[in-house]
Amino acid sequence: MCGIFGYIGDKEKEVALMANRALCELEYRGYDSWGIAAEVSGKMFAIKAIGKISLASDKELKGVMGKMSIGHSRWATHGGVTEANAHPHFNTSRTIAVIHNGIVENHEEIRSFLRGKLGNSVDKLFLSETDTEVIPHLIDYYITHEGKTFEAAFVEAGRMLEGRYAVVVMKLGEPYLLAMRDGSPLVVGKGEHEYFLASDVPAFIDHTRQVLYPGDREYMKVSADAIMLRNLDTGKKVDREWITVTWDKGSATKEGYPHFMLKEIMEQPLSLDKAIHQEDAKLEEFARLMKESEHLFFIGCGTAAKMAKLGELYAARVAGKLTNAYVGSEFAAYGQFLNKRSTIVAVSQSGETADVLEGLRVAEKEGARILALLNVVGSSIDRMSKKSLFLNAGPEIAVASTKAATAQIAVLILIAHALAKKLPEGKHLMRSAVKDIKAWLIPDLSRDIKKIAEKLLNNPSSALLRGPTNSSPYQNTPPSLVFPRRAPETSSAISLQQYPLRDIYIIGRGLNAPVAQEAAIKIQEVSYIHAEGFPGGELKHGPIALIEKGTPVIALIPNDETKRDMESNTMELRSRGAYVIGIAPDNSKLFDEWIQVPNLGLASPIASIIPIQLLAYHLAVLRGNDPDKPRNLAKSVTVK
Ligand code: F6R
Repeated sequence: MCGIFGYIGDKEKEVALMANRALCELEYRGYDSWGIAAEVSGKMFAIKAIGKISLASDKELKGVMGKMSIGHSRWATHGGVTEANAHPHFNTSRTIAVIHNGIVENHEEIRSFLRGKLGNSVDKLFLSETDTEVIPHLIDYYITHEGKTFEAAFVEAGRMLEGRYAVVVMKLGEPYLLAMRDGSPLVVGKGEHEYFLASDVPAFIDHTRQVLYPGDREYMKVSADAIMLRNLDTGKKVDREWITVTWDKGSATKEGYPHFMLKEIMEQPLSLDKAIHQEDAKLEEFARLMKESEHLFFIGCGTAAKMAKLGELYAARVAGKLTNAYVGSEFAAYGQFLNKRSTIVAVSQSGETADVLEGLRVAEKEGARILALLNVVGSSIDRMSKKSLFLNAGPEIAVASTKAATAQIAVLILIAHALAKKLPEGKHLMRSAVKDIKAWLIPDLSRDIKKIAEKLLNNPSSALLRGPTNSSPYQNTPPSLVFPRRAPETSSAISLQQYPLRDIYIIGRGLNAPVAQEAAIKIQEVSYIHAEGFPGGELKHGPIALIEKGTPVIALIPNDETKRDMESNTMELRSRGAYVIGIAPDNSKLFDEWIQVPNLGLASPIASIIPIQLLAYHLAVLRGNDPDKPRNLAKSVTVK
């Protein structure tokens, strides 16, 4: 989604360069174009471009000295990817510059309003196809034609906007920035005689760790030495607390890894360790609030929706508690069943996902209680929830969720144990799981999985094609210390025909059924290879028709009650020629490739998903894709 940045200070600085560096820190949000505006010697400096922010030539930005600037990275929604559509947008005299994240749903009505006031020629003033451009023209109208001050015009315009937005506006000659938010993220940073505004903290963490999160429908007047927060509708002053951000800049940089995605996968022993360091009292209070309710729901989107499903399974298995997990965008249909005795647990990394927020609004309207499991403190979902638990995974920069997903699993396991009043048991289980993951998730694992990715892509016919098996019986072999290793030979290649890598299927049962679906999301989003995950039992109800000789299938086979049935499903696949990659603690003659994983008991979904995160990463890189910024995707999906 779009990224926004604003700066104001009491001394002249290289403000365009500063905005550019800040936008680079927000690159993870996804964008297709960007722009910067600054007041330089009383004149408007502006630059806009399509493509990579980091490729901007410093020459154009260096030496642009001023006391305030704004910058924006755009992820197209209204209007194509063009320089004209990139922000900032201006009024006709180019004295007012506006950046905006979100959607102005009533932009057509605002245009009609301006047409009504100023005549049809107003349309000629618009230079872009964006919804945003109505904002500078509306503010200009109130200043020029109704004699309002910049602040009063801004407030009047703000009250007219419908939809979700975070907006920052500067005006030549005015020594302050104005900003407002409703539904879209905006955080303020306080330095020495300077303030920062941004969609997220990494944009200014090099300058300050003191941050403040404005609420919905609040606006800010920010000068070099002061900030005033007011309610947009009532104009009443609002007090908000400054928070000190404790995580390191290092956790928002690549630390020597070629990509954030790989860094975030490999640091999971640490992020999991942090995730399970939850205060007992907080977990117990969270569980108490859940238990009090008659109807319990988990909601999330994408990866977080699969984790929400795991939340449902853990609550059932560990605590014997019936809950229902739904996808955020589909939750509204269940609004009719909600009341004061309902509790919704939102699962979200960013805490900003529009589809989850939409579901929560339905719940709020019915008086239901909202709880949340989040990675971002102060996010929109955090502010809506009665109680939030945090993943403590540190900023997740790569678009594909990896360390946040496993942290969600870890905390959901603890919550289920707290629900069952067995928290010490849950903590013991997770501590031992983290220890095993630490010993297992080493560079060798990544290297060996890369070899499998190469094999799948290079597609040596001898490895991927063989005749039907002799239905050799399943046979356990002792686990190897080397990960992963080839499965014992079962049958030989009978054809040199090639299977072009079109599809990858993943199967799992029980706790690993949602993991199979999450695995498919990981492979799809970064490698752009078609992947599908489903419960092993569903195979014979349709998908098995897709299996050809050499079709890669990943089977998740932990040592739990699903093992026998999973083995039968894998056998069914092998006998139709599938190339089976087994992710399991134990080797089997059923596997063509074996990725050995530690035996984590209830935490097996963590062990199952990590190798697939690595496989997806390597497939992406080998295919020349940027795994950190996959096409068409954004890190926080703040639009419906
Ligand atoms: C996939 C992925 C997305 C997110 C989804 C929800 O790897 O990251 O599917 O899980 O957009 O995002 P959050 O967790 O921020 O609510």
